[in-house]
Amino acid sequence: MAEKTSNLFQIVQDGFTDGSHYDKYRPDYTPETTSEILRMLTAESVSNTDGECDILELGAGTGKLTRHLYKALPTNLKFVASEPMVDFLTTLRDRCPGVSTIQCTADSLPFPDNSVQGIVAAQCFHWFANEASMREITRVLRPNGSLILVWNIQDIRVDWVNALTEKVLSYYADDEPQYIRFWWKKAIDDFKGLRLKTRKELDFPASEYTTEDIKTFYSTLSAFSRMTEDDQKQALEELIMIVKNHPATIGKTTVAYPRIVDLFQYVKQ
Ligand SMILES: C[S@@+](CC[C@H](N)C(=O)[O-])C[C@H]1O[C@@H](n2cnc3c(N)ncnc32)[C@H](O)[C@@H]1O
Repeated sequence: MAEKTSNLFQIVQDGFTDGSHYDKYRPDYTPETTSEILRMLTAESVSNTDGECDILELGAGTGKLTRHLYKALPTNLKFVASEPMVDFLTTLRDRCPGVSTIQCTADSLPFPDNSVQGIVAAQCFHWFANEASMREITRVLRPNGSLILVWNIQDIRVDWVNALTEKVLSYYADDEPQYIRFWWKKAIDDFKGLRLKTRKELDFPASEYTTEDIKTFYSTLSAFSRMTEDDQKQALEELIMIVKNHPATIGKTTVAYPRIVDLFQYVKQ
């Protein structure tokens, strides 16, 4: 049963605690992803208010998208990155000097009604796809303001990657949210305050991974980083056995690990 103390899942509190490890081994965002997000955020000409925040990033983590986005945004737009986990926020502040930051969860945003032009959530919306957060997001967004959701995800159309993903899901409790479970999509559709404007699948260059690289990438996932050292070792070994035994990857010293980018723009109705 997924525990939720305060308004964060327990797995978030236990699993997102080592900012520098996460920052080093999670994939980066591509230049195309950044420019698509930028285009979505700035396509509508929205009259400027004198608010403290025009573009808000939620669950910004260690700043993997932040560092690209804030440099690309027009300087007249005030950008704020938010993150609830203190170690991740410390890494973000270190990696993105000069960026305004706040520590908060998505269901409690310290901004006035109708004041924010765009909100971005990278690799994280599934963690707070609940009514309280959606009410808060739509409260602070200006009319026609955008909610942009993006994930760099494993390409499960490739059979051995699908086998890894199925195994990884078994390390999460049945009621812990994950992108791949798509509960976040149902939550947003049921809420009705936001209309889907665009969905785009973008390319992501395949990463050439050794077995050690596969282990370090998976060790950044919350399910693995909350495990004891022994359990983590065993779980990562189980993944490696899938790669070693699959007909498409058997005998290879490196494998091309395929990903795609799933990008959504919702607009406040
Ligand atoms: C997989 S990380 C993604 C971090 C960063 N956006 C990136 O692209 O690397 C998920 C992030 O969501 C944040 N998060 C989880 N629950 C949240 C909530 N209720 N409100 C805001 N952020 C949350 C976590 O603290 C974590 O930084």
